[in-house]
Amino acid sequence: MDKYDKIIDLAKRRGFFTTSCEIYGGVAGFLDFGPIGTLLKRNIENKWREFFIYKHYGLIYEIETPIVMPSKVFEASGHVEHFTDFIVECLSCHRKFRADHVILYQVGEISGLEGKSAEELEKIIQENNIRCPECKGKLGKVSKFNLLFTTNVGPYSENIAYMRPEAAQGMFVNFKYIYTIMREKLPIGLAQIGKVLRNEISPRQGPIRLREFTIMEIELFFDPKNPECNLLNEVSNEKINLLTENIIIKGENKPIELTIEEAIKEKIILSEWQAYFMALSKIFLEKIGVPKNKQMFIEKLPNERAHYSAQTFDQVVELERWGWTEVSGHAYRTDYDLLRHQNYSGQDLKVFRRFTIPKKEYRIIAIPKIDIINNIIKNNDIATKIISIIKNKKAEELKKELERGSIIIDDIEIRPEFVEFKTEEITITGEHFIPHVSEPSFGAERLVYVAMEYAYREKNNRIILSLPKDIAPIKIAVFPLVNKDGLREKAIEVYNMIKSKGFIVEFDDDGSIGRRYARADEIGIPLAITIDYKTMEDNTVTIRNRDTWEQERISISNIMEYLNNFFSK
Ligand code: GLY
Repeated sequence: MDKYDKIIDLAKRRGFFTTSCEIYGGVAGFLDFGPIGTLLKRNIENKWREFFIYKHYGLIYEIETPIVMPSKVFEASGHVEHFTDFIVECLSCHRKFRADHVILYQVGEISGLEGKSAEELEKIIQENNIRCPECKGKLGKVSKFNLLFTTNVGPYSENIAYMRPEAAQGMFVNFKYIYTIMREKLPIGLAQIGKVLRNEISPRQGPIRLREFTIMEIELFFDPKNPECNLLNEVSNEKINLLTENIIIKGENKPIELTIEEAIKEKIILSEWQAYFMALSKIFLEKIGVPKNKQMFIEKLPNERAHYSAQTFDQVVELERWGWTEVSGHAYRTDYDLLRHQNYSGQDLKVFRRFTIPKKEYRIIAIPKIDIINNIIKNNDIATKIISIIKNKKAEELKKELERGSIIIDDIEIRPEFVEFKTEEITITGEHFIPHVSEPSFGAERLVYVAMEYAYREKNNRIILSLPKDIAPIKIAVFPLVNKDGLREKAIEVYNMIKSKGFIVEFDDDGSIGRRYARADEIGIPLAITIDYKTMEDNTVTIRNRDTWEQERISISNIMEYLNNFFSK
């Protein structure tokens, strides 16, 4: 059993997560979270929320939008056209597989595999005689498969809608509304934590590749003429490992370590906001247990990038079975999405940039000479049309045309003597533009798995899940040494006292004390409090540390102070 199998076993046995709908045989790509896993997932989501959103309140705001969105949204976003993977079908058993994965698992890593065309993938499959992973049958043609889940809104089959594959679109369609109500300031970030769905072709990596998962995403909107990130100095000395496009195209795979400042100065990361979020993401992963030497950022090659991105870095961490695995994506989405939504919705999604010093400009205006028009043109309707044409046509164009003599517009003659041209001075206070966007995006379920893999230890044939204490699902366990002589009642008193202060605490009086410690260790409970015979004499308890197995004796009256200190560090 490798670490992955051990964690999957632990996850199922102890109520972290398991395959969805197991009583019906299970559905690949969907997970059911149990009581312990749900707590762990919420803690990771809340930690992300505090670290990325609440810490930036006033700049980044959390919103919540529906999972189902009308087809028009995803036509605009480009997902209907581009959100595809290549599929290959077995000619014997007719099972379908993701073409690049079949190659990856049977031939190994091939440079640029993710960005290859259908023809290129087909050629690799034929040249390497790659067969069906299930029945070893011959594989057929490679074709495109769209990963959007489709549904309908109401009883109308023509009302096609899609389940969102990213939370981002809910933020793009709301951008102008929120920008307006939050007093029209840039930069502004919108964030969402919520479910997304992707109809992955043949997911076989448990919690690593899911068809339904929780995304944690920020769209940071900024003015491309003022792209500086005013928080960059907080992370400018932070060092990150980068596998850049230049390194990859040289065929090398050793990352370089640069500070955020260097990465910006050397134009390796194009957007300061992107660099800022990459630094935060590295720190965040450290906080959930992944050391910095087990993390890096890999730049996506142009043909591997999503259709909306001008530059993308995947943050990857090393996993025992899956190798370097993406935990977050950092895309510089430019003005792509807002521009597309502006075109598809017909709504103006531009914002206003005020000039520091208003600009003076001169413009030509055309003034119809009404007396002359009425003198020459006796038909009132035609005279009115002439006046309207002069007022509505661009003055500069009209001037140029009339310099060559009379012109005919809609069968009506406009003579030079009908118009007087004047030059007037106008003050321009600013200009309209579409903001640019930098996006960090995480998957919560993957982080649950990653946190568990990095926390997993074995000692004396026992499992210890050394999760960082702030994400540990249950914080404290309370045990009576034995269930007699008033020890159980005393333990319940202690348990109720801790619970009433808002801690998630477990009471366990089942089996030997050793078994209870072991049960607590494998779900990562940082502290276990035991009520023993000495407690009955002097009101002291033992507090045992999950990671060191050391015990301290403290007075019951000091428990809350001890816990508050322990969990606040
Ligand atoms: N919004 C990021 C992604 O779709 O992967």
